[in-house]
Parts: sequence; C-alpha cells; structure tokens
Amino acid sequence: MTFPEGFLWGAATASYQIEGAVREDGRGECIWSRFSHTSGKVLNGDTGDVACDHYHLYRSDVVLMARIGLRAYRFSIAWPRVLPFGTGAPNEVGLDFYDRLVDELLAVNIRPFVTLYHWDLPQALQDRGGWDNPEVVQWFGEYTDRVSRRLGDRVKDWITLNEPWVVAFLGNWLGIHAPGLCDLGTAYRVLHHQLLAHGAAIAILRRNVQDVSAGITIDLGYFEPATERSEDVQAAWREDGFKNRWLLDAVFKGHYPTDVINWVAEWLDGIDLDAVAQAAAPLDFLGINYYTRTLVEAASSGVTAARPVKPANAAFTTMGWEVYPEGLYQLLVRVHREYQPRALFVTENGAAFADVLTPDGKVHDEARRDYLRQHFDAAERAIQAGVPLRGYFVWSLMDNFEWSLGYTQRFGIVYVDYATQQRIVKDSGQWYAEVIRQNQILA
Ligand code: FCB
Repeated sequence: MTFPEGFLWGAATASYQIEGAVREDGRGECIWSRFSHTSGKVLNGDTGDVACDHYHLYRSDVVLMARIGLRAYRFSIAWPRVLPFGTGAPNEVGLDFYDRLVDELLAVNIRPFVTLYHWDLPQALQDRGGWDNPEVVQWFGEYTDRVSRRLGDRVKDWITLNEPWVVAFLGNWLGIHAPGLCDLGTAYRVLHHQLLAHGAAIAILRRNVQDVSAGITIDLGYFEPATERSEDVQAAWREDGFKNRWLLDAVFKGHYPTDVINWVAEWLDGIDLDAVAQAAAPLDFLGINYYTRTLVEAASSGVTAARPVKPANAAFTTMGWEVYPEGLYQLLVRVHREYQPRALFVTENGAAFADVLTPDGKVHDEARRDYLRQHFDAAERAIQAGVPLRGYFVWSLMDNFEWSLGYTQRFGIVYVDYATQQRIVKDSGQWYAEVIRQNQILA
C-alpha cells in the first residue's frame, strides 16, 4: 500500500539541541544554558553552546532537507532569541533568523511546523518562578503573539508545547532536566500552568494566523503489565493515568482523571483543578511522540506503586529503550477512538544507535532503518484502521544535543561530525529519501 496522497513525511529538531550561537545577536540565556553549565548536570559537561551550529548553517541544512525530499520540517523557536528576558522588548534580529529559515524552507517546498516551546525557557523567567508562576500564562501568550504575528503569514502549522509532562516531571521532580528541581508538587503546578498556557496560546494563534492548524505535542507512554496478575494490570493502568490520561483528559475533555486525582491529591495543593477546562480549546491536530514501551509490575512504594521490568528477548537502542513498534499502532488507534482528535501527527519517532563513520565515508545504520521501517509499518496499519494520521516526523533530522546525555546519543538520519560540522546522510536517511519519493515503505 502507498500512504495517502499528501502524507507529510518530515523530520524534527529543536532549537537548543541544534542551533548553538547562544550568545549571539542578542539572544538571552535559557534554562538549558544555565543547567548544562552547572557542573555534573550533563554527561561529559556538554552544552548546547555550539551544538550543530545550525544558526549559521541553516541554509545548507535546508538544502540537505530538500535533497532528502522532506515534505515538512518541524523545528522550534528559542523563546530567548525572540524575547531575551522572556517578556518586554523583542529582539527583532532573533525573529529575523526564523523569518529567513521559513523563507528558505518555503522556497524548496518544505512545509514548516513550528513548535513554540521545546524546553528553552528564558532564564530571566525562571528567576521569577518560570512555569511555576501563574503569570507564565501571560508571558507565553505574549511570546506566542509576537512569533505568530511575524511568521503567521507563511507558517500555518503550529505546536504550542513539546512534551509538557517531561518538562514538568523530569525538570521539576526528578531534577534531571532544567531547571533541575526535585519537588512533585512543583511538577504538578508546572504541568497545570503549561496546560493553561497552551489553551491561551491556541486562542492567540487562531486570532493571528489565517487558516491556522494548531495543536500540541504530547509524549505518550505505552504501558503493558509484565504479567496477567491483576495487581500488575492495575499498576500499568496507574502508569497510564499518571503519564497519558492526565494530559489527554485535560486537553480533550477539560478535566483531570478522577482516579489519578485521588492518589496524587497530596501534591495538588493550591491548584485550581477546574481551571484546566481552559486547556481544552478545540485543536486541529494532536502530535504524538512515541519511542518505546514500558513493561510494569506492581510495587509497594513510589507515586504510582509500579516499577518498570526489563523485557526479555527484546532489542534496545543505546538509550536503553526497547524497540516496540506495536505500541505506536496501539496508541494511535486508542487515542483516535477515545479522544477523536481531528487529525494526528507522529511528531517524533526515531532511535539512537552507536553509529560509526566508516572509511567509505558512510554510516551504515541498518538498525535505525529497521526501527523506522517497523514503525512506519505500524503507522500504515493505523491508517488502515481508520486513524486520521496526516504525517510523520522522524526524530531527528541530524545528530544533536540529547539533553542530559549530551552528545552521546545519535538520533539523526544525518550524521554530524561535531569537530568539523560536516553532515553525512546516513544509510537510513538515503532509505528514507526513497520512502518519501515512492510514498511507500520499502524493504
Ligand atoms: C524527546 C524530546 C526530543 C528528543 C527525543 C529523543 O523526549 O522531545 O527533544 O530529545 O526525546
């Protein structure tokens, strides 16, 4: 089978992970600069100071995208490039960069998908509490307004937030992402404020952008019980509530799931739970990021009273994530049935492997090609089952700064030699180019 005509094959990146140039042209400091420059926070002391130097190399990067044949490109805007202090006077030079990037993309017929927030909050706002401060709804609105006014004549596809759950919990509870806090109550407030900010931003995008298509990107976990024992089945359902339903119910139904509210109640102090109705602004699409499955069993402690179990006989990526394409199919079908988004995109899916640049000047990454092929197949089956899946963004266009793991994880379909900033299309990238050209999955 071929994919539906016009299916948007794409690739994704994020500003802090690829741009570099963090002190250039008036850009303000972001929480990831602060965090990565704090000793012990990122593997090998890596930072995004230079990353893929995309800020300078964007023109040739777009040429590369055109060579692969991408129909769409998902990238994010660095809030502190646009508003160095988060609010107030805009930095027009920063906006100019995205303006030029968009023009380059359109010139070669690549549809730009803009993510407004992919984790690089201005440090100046973090100093005022960041996402924990209810005023962030205003701040994010102001930023959304600025960017959409500037780019909205040409960019029609907008994603408010990338993975609000990860922002809240890895950044404010587990402390392994910026800003590095360790408090579950804070994480819940941060998540709540992100959801309110999302709802407010959708209204602003509708006002500013003619023919807008606006949505949000949520990272969904696929949880399965390790055994058929009822306590494990319940544990998997709790994990699902903690990670998936909390967000999906908020965004599509305007309330939080009652079962989860009951067992996390002690961390919800001071949150006006009913206010989350504002997060349920009608969306044009839902973006799903999917990477792996988690097998779980019941445990006697922990917030969800569940713990992960390592599956036997499974294949893993260098992230330690199990390769499990069936989870993508199951999630797409389930979200379609239970929440009925108007359209769906896979806004991220991909794999990190230990790539080597061989003497022939190539990267023979069969494992990544297999990973993608199996996941494309899951997507195709979901389409056949009636899921309105409109496009697929591979994570990532190129190797980049993988947050707390620095440059140790290579996710790209394009290899980056960080010493020279040379780009080399991996075998998986060549294969993907052919998939796009024929609009069907190739062996
Ligand atoms: C997602 C992030 C993305 C990238 C991938 C591997 O959680 O959105 O930036 O780091 O994981």
